[in-house]
Amino acid sequence: MSDRYCVFGNPVGHSKSPAIHALFARQTGEDLVYEARLAPLDGFAAAVRDFAAGGGRGANVTVPFKEEAFRLCDTLSARARLAGAVNTLSFADGRIAGDNTDGAGLVRDLMENLRTPLAGRRVLLLGAGGAARGALGPLLEQAPAALVVANRTAARADALVRPFTALYPQTRLTGGGFDALADLAGGAFDVVVNATSASLAGEAPPLPADAFAPGALAYDMMYGQGDTAFLALARRLGAARLADGLGMLVGQAAEAFFVWRGVRPATLPVLAALRAA
Ligand code: ATR
Repeated sequence: MSDRYCVFGNPVGHSKSPAIHALFARQTGEDLVYEARLAPLDGFAAAVRDFAAGGGRGANVTVPFKEEAFRLCDTLSARARLAGAVNTLSFADGRIAGDNTDGAGLVRDLMENLRTPLAGRRVLLLGAGGAARGALGPLLEQAPAALVVANRTAARADALVRPFTALYPQTRLTGGGFDALADLAGGAFDVVVNATSASLAGEAPPLPADAFAPGALAYDMMYGQGDTAFLALARRLGAARLADGLGMLVGQAAEAFFVWRGVRPATLPVLAALRAA
């Protein structure tokens, strides 16, 4: 019988994860099946235990359960601990191990698919919620020269960067409100990542006119048909390159597949297949 995996979410009907993992399995010859499972808002832990008890080997976790998954795990990887959230569960010997592959998926998409090295670059991360927190550690691992976290609520950005400052002394790491961006004279960025949920409301974080350095990449963790509000703004401000978060989705899935199977699938052909569909 094939090994069983799933993604838990609510809602989860539109998840692309089953299609992505089916393509990974075919590409690598791994014998597994992967389905989407709707967990009740007040029944996530029970749904996970059920799936594990029934022979499930692992699961992904999506909105709104990543923090609850973090609390449910018996053991946590270092990156899950830093992210404060879990998107990848592994079940063995009656125990639940938690990992977080979101940030690694973003970095992999940036480096491999978009050929955008981060070492020595200036990076702007917009937002200070769960998505930003998950990305921060993996971005800092790449040793950018400067990383600014800007958020609508300045205090949240401040609080987010504080525990990371001592861990990554090679990067000038600062956090603040959007208003502080205007004061960063000559502070154009090579990579601007939108980790706010503003695009969901069709809004874009306010960016100064000179936010993008020549050749800069604007990256929205959200994706959909056409430009998100953030990418539309970035286009108007002259960002040289635009990318949405579909590559990050495939990247985090590939990292989860590696956690479970010890095989790292190629992401580009899967990303191309999703874009074509
Ligand atoms: P997620 O897990 O997606 O990061 P979250 O933890 O609720 O969700 O965080 C949402 C992020 O998007 C926050 O940084 C939020 O800013 P605040 O901390 O000020 O709330 C940001 N955000 C949401 N809507 C926004 C908008 N319309 N403009 C700018 N930022 C927005």
